[in-house]
Amino acid sequence: MTTPAERWGIHPEHFWLYGRRPRQPVEFDEKTNAWNVYGYPEALEVLGDPAAFSSHMARLLPMGADEAFTEGDLLQTDPPDHRELRKLVSHAFTPKVVADLEPRITALTHELLDGLAGRDEFDLMTGLAYPLPVTVVAELLSIPGADRHLFEGWMTDIVHSLGDVSMEDDPEDQERIFEASMAPMRKMLEYLREHTAECRRRPREDLLGKLVTADLDGRRLTDNHVVNFAKMLLIAGYLTTTMLIGNTVLCLDAYPEQAARVRADRSLVPGLLEESMRFLSPVAATYRATTRDVEIAGQSLPADRMVMVWFGAANRDPRQFPDPDAFDVTRGPNPHLGFGRGIHFCLGGPLARMEGRVALNLLLDRFPELHTVPGRPPAFMPGFDTTGVSSLPLRTSAA
Ligand code: HEM
Repeated sequence: MTTPAERWGIHPEHFWLYGRRPRQPVEFDEKTNAWNVYGYPEALEVLGDPAAFSSHMARLLPMGADEAFTEGDLLQTDPPDHRELRKLVSHAFTPKVVADLEPRITALTHELLDGLAGRDEFDLMTGLAYPLPVTVVAELLSIPGADRHLFEGWMTDIVHSLGDVSMEDDPEDQERIFEASMAPMRKMLEYLREHTAECRRRPREDLLGKLVTADLDGRRLTDNHVVNFAKMLLIAGYLTTTMLIGNTVLCLDAYPEQAARVRADRSLVPGLLEESMRFLSPVAATYRATTRDVEIAGQSLPADRMVMVWFGAANRDPRQFPDPDAFDVTRGPNPHLGFGRGIHFCLGGPLARMEGRVALNLLLDRFPELHTVPGRPPAFMPGFDTTGVSSLPLRTSAA
């Protein structure tokens, strides 16, 4: 059977998508000057040791560490600050906040699918998978409806300019590309700064309102913290969920017998989403920086080196997943690393899972047939550390 990667040529360098195994679970790549971690237990080792493997990566990047961009961004913060910040944020971003969003997400999905009703063909991504998550995050941050398109535009510009960067580029090229991505980033931060200031002037009960007044043993978040947290939610919560929805529908198209099972028994939808996260992991990799010389899987990694933890490859490690290249919606247990692991484990996992469940269920309800279109192949996100559909033309009739 042809896999989605073979059929559509997704990232040919991501060998795990093609059923190939790494030579070693951890290896140095001279071209990128980074250590690659491909194995599942080795990935757990790195993610479980933030003292040796720091998330404050910016110091190794050509643009350096500008606190204005990183303060308040959980993803780039190490303990002990991370612990404090995550506690504060978890206080505001509670399971109840997420659960309360379900009726709104359902209504939004219906509204978007209404726009596609009756069509023979549509692009799933522009019709549903982009607008749904960006609207959800924007509403979470109480960004006015009229301004949401600004975020869609800035995020697309950021992703596309960063998509041009390759770990194999020389530092000057990397710096030029990062600088280009900073222009839309600065505009987004300016907007969020004004939005946060407004929230301080007029206190509110929403997520930002809770964050600006959050108090942990007398410690308050600065405006910079709140702005960078909002930026991180947009970056972490928007296109990742977009890719999850697109990838899942792509897998259903590739494995019709699995699609038939899910259509016949909707209790399989959560398992379908987990298997999609494992099989085509939207966040294919994350980064860490060694803080000292450290040994892993018999390899000696020097201090101050970039380490790339390839979730996508670890999720195909046969030492953890029997028959890892089979797409099986009933796989269980399925302890994939698609949402990360350890102290930085995805804070938005429950929200992403709920959005995915609502979107998939309503899509299957409303379209008895959904298939890729001959001659109009899907396209994929440009980033070398992502695995995700960016456009997905579908037809709504059989054959
Ligand atoms: C399918 C969708 C998603 C995927 C694949 C995903 C994936 C991830 C991964 C892999 C990490 C860990 C990164 C690391 O260890 O370096 C992470 C962290 C995070 N994610 Fe998600 N995510 C998704 C959706 C969301 C959503 C919807 C939100 C919120 C609106 C969100 C918010 C966060 C936050 C705040 C963190 C940082 C947690 C920390 O550093 O303590 N994510 N996500």
